[in-house]
Amino acid sequence: MDLGLSGKVAFITGAGHGIGKAFSLAFAGEGVAVAIADINVPWAEAVAAEIVQGGGRAFAVECDVSDSAQVNDAVQRTAREFGQVDILVNDAVSPILTGAIEELDDEAWDDNFRINVKGGFYCIKAVAPLMKERRYGQDRQHGVGRRTSRRGDSDFGGLCCVEGRDHRDDGVRGARVRAVQH
Ligand SMILES: NC(=O)c1ccc[n+]([C@@H]2O[C@H](COP(=O)([O-])OP(=O)(O)OC[C@H]3O[C@@H](n4cnc5c(N)ncnc54)[C@H](O)[C@@H]3O)[C@@H](O)[C@H]2O)c1
Repeated sequence: MDLGLSGKVAFITGAGHGIGKAFSLAFAGEGVAVAIADINVPWAEAVAAEIVQGGGRAFAVECDVSDSAQVNDAVQRTAREFGQVDILVNDAVSPILTGAIEELDDEAWDDNFRINVKGGFYCIKAVAPLMKERRYGQDRQHGVGRRTSRRGDSDFGGLCCVEGRDHRDDGVRGARVRAVQH
């Protein structure tokens, strides 16, 4: 399938496993250069190696999305290696909370927001200046902020608020922002 993404650059969090890995392989198959950002370095390296062995462009970068300094470093490294960032996929996720609300652990709840909501905010904040520099929205290039979530995930509403904020920012207006819930 040709989605017209060849030559674009994607920064994908949680890219070492599961759906983030699937995003990475799919984008690479479309000719997108991919930064495989994950807290789990061996997983990230394995995905990057698979893409490079298949003739694509990718590198692994250690990135805990709940640490804004690490996110900034990883995004800056991506811009240095690939010259730009066109696509952001916010996919990194803390272990999914299950069970009745009265049984939920306070720490697990905090982790959920620290990683899934604040992490998404840090990533959008880090890529927005790069997209603004390249006048996203005004020349109709691709800019995608994305977070996948399972239906009913407690953090999903929070991230939708962060992504909604993007739309009120003149500099990134026109970037395509999607929050995906399954
Ligand atoms: N698994 C499902 O059934 C399902 C269904 C629909 C949507 N989703 C959503 O898809 C996304 C990915 O789910 P998955 O099942 O592929 O997850 P997964 O557990 O398979 O992968 C999550 C990845 O995120 C990484 N990660 C965890 N904490 C991180 C952090 N602080 N910084 C950077 N990376 C970190 C992990 O190392 C791992 O590679 C989530 O947003 C989830 O809510 C999952």
